[in-house]
Amino acid sequence: MKNILLFADPGIDDSIAIMYALLHPEINIIGIVSGYGNVDKEQATNNVAYLLHLANQTNIPIIGGATRSCTGEYPVYYPEIHGKEGLGPIRPPDTIKGELLNFSEIFNLVENFKDIVVVDVGRNTSLAVAFILDDKFGEKIKEFHIMGGAFFVPGNVTKLAEANFYGDPVASNFVMTQVKNITSVPLNVTNKAIITKSQIQEIQNASSSPLIKILDKVYDYYLQAYQKLIPGISGAPLHDVLTLSLLMNPDMGSYLKRDVDVQIFGEARGESIADFRVGSEEKESTTKIYLSLDYQAFIHDFMTIMSK
Ligand code: RIB
Ligand code: CA
Repeated sequence: MKNILLFADPGIDDSIAIMYALLHPEINIIGIVSGYGNVDKEQATNNVAYLLHLANQTNIPIIGGATRSCTGEYPVYYPEIHGKEGLGPIRPPDTIKGELLNFSEIFNLVENFKDIVVVDVGRNTSLAVAFILDDKFGEKIKEFHIMGGAFFVPGNVTKLAEANFYGDPVASNFVMTQVKNITSVPLNVTNKAIITKSQIQEIQNASSSPLIKILDKVYDYYLQAYQKLIPGISGAPLHDVLTLSLLMNPDMGSYLKRDVDVQIFGEARGESIADFRVGSEEKESTTKIYLSLDYQAFIHDFMTIMSK
């Protein structure tokens, strides 16, 4: 069983990742830190609360994360990809609100659980803040899994940058350069984590979970956005789901260990950089960067967990 502290900004692929985690028999979500990113913090929090309500797991604490980036800028949201409220056409009922716990609850959680795995599938601001508030935070966490960056492939928000690293490059650079035991799940693998409409339909037919009842509508919105972005694409890439799926199935892809830094300024803002030259492997790094994915294994894992 993995004790997971999840940082997220739901958002459609974040929401499907939360569904995956809630349905996974080997995942114990010890808390969800909801912050700005795909939508604002308040909306992200309401979406988390709604998903926990549907899953009948309202005992999972929701912790208030960041409202904006360490750069000081106000965030830019992406309603064209995630919908105005972050769940495509779905608006969580006004009656469902999570009890939002103070950020310091993170430090209580890490005292109360063992072998915690932190998974961050949003902007890295809240995670960086945890380190800024407690220098020893990293010592209490077993491993960190980060969806972000792009190696050998174009960015998805600029020609060089992936959206999470672009959104707060200061926090991402802080995390990637100062935190030990990171597994990085960048666009070069997450772009391949394509789920098709017929696979979603299959899950919908197999499952009676109230969580899955909203899956098709949420997915359809995201698929249409991707079909506009990349005409002819066969489905939609579930970046954040793959991050959890690789955590649960580490042999489903291959990685290299390299130090990573993130550019902060100018045209290269948000670009992730690692040295893959021959000989660079001699420098010890604790950061694993996934570079390939066994797609069929991912589909099998996704279909199995989501259909439960
Ligand atoms: O670049 C993909 C990431 O950006 C995902 O976490 C997605 O939710 C979006 O915010
Ligand atoms: Ca996300």
